[in-house]
Amino acid sequence: MDPNRLKGKNILITGAARGMGAANAESFAQQGANICLGDLDLDEAQRVADRINAAGNGKAIAVRMDVTKRKDNAAAVAATVEAFGSINVGVFNAGLNKPRFFMDIDEDNWDMIMTVNTKAMWLGMQETARQMIAQGPMDEPYKIINVGSIASRKPLVDVTVYCTSKYGCLALTHCGAVALAEHNITVNGYAPGVVVTPLWEQLDKDLVEIGFKEKAGQAYEDIARDQLQIKRVSYPDDIVGTASFLASPDSDYMTGQMIHIDGGWCIQ
Ligand SMILES: NC(=O)c1ccc[n+]([C@@H]2O[C@H](COP(=O)([O-])OP(=O)(O)OC[C@H]3O[C@@H](n4cnc5c(N)ncnc54)[C@H](O)[C@@H]3O)[C@@H](O)[C@H]2O)c1
Repeated sequence: MDPNRLKGKNILITGAARGMGAANAESFAQQGANICLGDLDLDEAQRVADRINAAGNGKAIAVRMDVTKRKDNAAAVAATVEAFGSINVGVFNAGLNKPRFFMDIDEDNWDMIMTVNTKAMWLGMQETARQMIAQGPMDEPYKIINVGSIASRKPLVDVTVYCTSKYGCLALTHCGAVALAEHNITVNGYAPGVVVTPLWEQLDKDLVEIGFKEKAGQAYEDIARDQLQIKRVSYPDDIVGTASFLASPDSDYMTGQMIHIDGGWCIQ
């Protein structure tokens, strides 16, 4: 790993207390980036920040934020700038899932998932871009990185609202790329399949509860066997390389792309 690949990048990551957000934060910092970790869970985000600071390459701060609130997004951007002088990259990663079959979806399920996964992404993109525009053009483009999903492109019957929210992330990536290009801001994203994180561990239980799977762990096995070309589910370490590429100068001529890191599920 090149310890200078992300030198000079000041990066806000939402949902960075655990899972892929935390893994990306640590990976980016090992490559020289400074990280603002935003999460509802400040204690856990602070623990990740402490590990980063102890490791001694990029620096980190943690902020408590609810991504669904505009003022929290603005405050997280401001905290990044106060700590590191500017913001170059925003990674909109916070998300959740709660499966329901189509006819069982209710307003609470709809509102919760759409608000956290889609509305909050829009808010984060907008508040981050506002600051980037105010900073003025730089030699290297500013970067917005949105976290989509296999559910950004496939209709999955057990998670219709999640699919709707993640198709929305794809739309925000496309529309943002068009809208922000004139400000030297690229907008790309990546789309995992099954990544073993606290989100998926809860989902695995919920899928049994709604009767989609008979036993814990079955969803992992069924998907790996029936949907993936690479016959195993993934871990955050499988994701950090692509995320780093999107944060790095290597992706400077890309915008409006959502890269799938899903073991080949998207072509099944
Ligand atoms: N795990 C997977 O298999 C998978 C697959 C495809 C896409 N994704 C997406 O990747 C992203 C990260 O997922 P993960 O599996 O690492 O999840 P995770 O549950 O491990 O971590 C998500 C983090 O987001 C935070 N968060 C949730 N709501 C928040 C809010 N309102 N404000 C601030 N922080 C909030 C949580 O506290 C948590 O730290 C999500 O957008 C998810 O939809 C995950």
